[in-house]
Amino acid sequence: MASHVNTETREPRAARAQAGHAAGGPRVFRNFIAGEWTPAASGATFSDVNPADTRDVIGLFPQSSAEDVDRAVHSAHRGFERWRRTPAPARGDVIRRAGDLLVQRKDEIADLMTREMGKPLAETRGDVQEGIDTAYYAATMGRQLFGHTVPSELRAKWAMSFRRPIGVAGIITPFNFPLAIPTWKMFPALVCGNACVFKPAEDVPHTATVFVEILLEAGLPPDVIQLVHGDGTAGAALVAHPDVPVISFTGSTDTGRRIGEVCGRMHKRLSLEMGGKNAQIVLDDANLELALDGVLWGAFGTTGQRCTATSRLILQRGIHDSMLDRLAERAGALRLGDGRREGTDVGPLIHAESRAKVEEYVSIGRSEGAELVLGGAVPTDAPLAHGHFYRPTIFAGVRPGSRLEQEEIFGPVLSVIRVDSVDEAFAVNNDVRYGLSSAVYTRDVNVAFRALSELDTGITYVNAPTIGAEAHLPFGGVKQTGNGHREGGWEVYDFYSETKVGYVDYSGILQRAQIDNYLGTPD
Ligand code: UN1
Repeated sequence: MASHVNTETREPRAARAQAGHAAGGPRVFRNFIAGEWTPAASGATFSDVNPADTRDVIGLFPQSSAEDVDRAVHSAHRGFERWRRTPAPARGDVIRRAGDLLVQRKDEIADLMTREMGKPLAETRGDVQEGIDTAYYAATMGRQLFGHTVPSELRAKWAMSFRRPIGVAGIITPFNFPLAIPTWKMFPALVCGNACVFKPAEDVPHTATVFVEILLEAGLPPDVIQLVHGDGTAGAALVAHPDVPVISFTGSTDTGRRIGEVCGRMHKRLSLEMGGKNAQIVLDDANLELALDGVLWGAFGTTGQRCTATSRLILQRGIHDSMLDRLAERAGALRLGDGRREGTDVGPLIHAESRAKVEEYVSIGRSEGAELVLGGAVPTDAPLAHGHFYRPTIFAGVRPGSRLEQEEIFGPVLSVIRVDSVDEAFAVNNDVRYGLSSAVYTRDVNVAFRALSELDTGITYVNAPTIGAEAHLPFGGVKQTGNGHREGGWEVYDFYSETKVGYVDYSGILQRAQIDNYLGTPD
């Protein structure tokens, strides 16, 4: 049983994946294609570095091309033909064992994830836990995957719907939840009987490699999972491959649009999870301490690099000044640093380009006349010199409609907007092109329920921050955040399965639907 896996049995597999060291240099990792750990066809590699200290190179990973993707898709088709015939409860059992392995290796994976993408250990442990929760939920779905049986309009006839798997799923994931988001997509895809070709973000290939090792160790047949490392070239090849009928992508709205164009032309099923510009609304009657804790966590957790991050704080006039003062004081005390060090609150940004983007938005904010209350600079402390750090930043007096207020930054920048009324707060919340998450802090139950129905987001929190979705509820957004699908919970199983309908007529005569039962008075 996989639950007995220990270091002895784990090491050989890891050693195969992590095929050794370039002469005296970093570790060299591989793709997993057609049941083997293998380099890119071209031999090209890219390096994976620690964003808290870029001198720390985690390893070299294959820079894959369309050729690698094509081999992976062919093999995945072989895997699919076998896996689709495996009973769904047995598929669920494999996912349960993957969950057990994640439990056993939680701390180890959290540590390597923090080294790879920077968020503090408490958060990477939460990331692994989200994968565990998703595994155990998915395992039970192997015994559900409900269809419907409904009455037929004709006598001696049954009518029912049931699910079939779709085929090879192309899975393209971001850096910010290196384990949780791949599990959101792949566990349901696999339980439904699909095979997966997995292209993780090039910033987090190590976590992805360990995840694939775990799936194999849990008993997933090798052809059913393929791991193809690389950048947008590999991702684009996967999206455009004619034998991949279903694509799931989490990332930027711009990339999502390009993927959508290709999938639209090719009639592919596509789930998009994209940008956000989420607001926390604090009304005059709110519990301010609670609202303060909420915005600090929502805005600066994961260094603001969540689709669900709080990037706007909408304050009602009566509490605006006191809330802003206390917020600046608390945010100024957050400790920036290596996420693996005890006491770190906020880690680095993922890479130099994302810090440059944050800097650009800070200058946009200044030029738009917003008032910089905190941060707005790269820290000068010596221990942070080799990482992509940026100080938690707060702008006040931000104008609704300004670029700072409208555009996704994906960094530790919070825009504070003052409003007079509940109506104005809701209008400001809704006046952006995104719609993932929102939060309202109030003690008025009527306003709370109004918020649930009137805020144009896929998720609304009452008296809780904009981040922190739970794995067993549907996750996703409206407007340009998504394209109508949901991850997580029960809904994602509809995305990864095709509905088929069966009619069984056991009357022994031709019965014509819509005709024979309406010919006369029924007897
Ligand atoms: C994301 O930012 O892409 O609700 C996902 C949350 C997490 C998931 C975020 N459970 O913040």
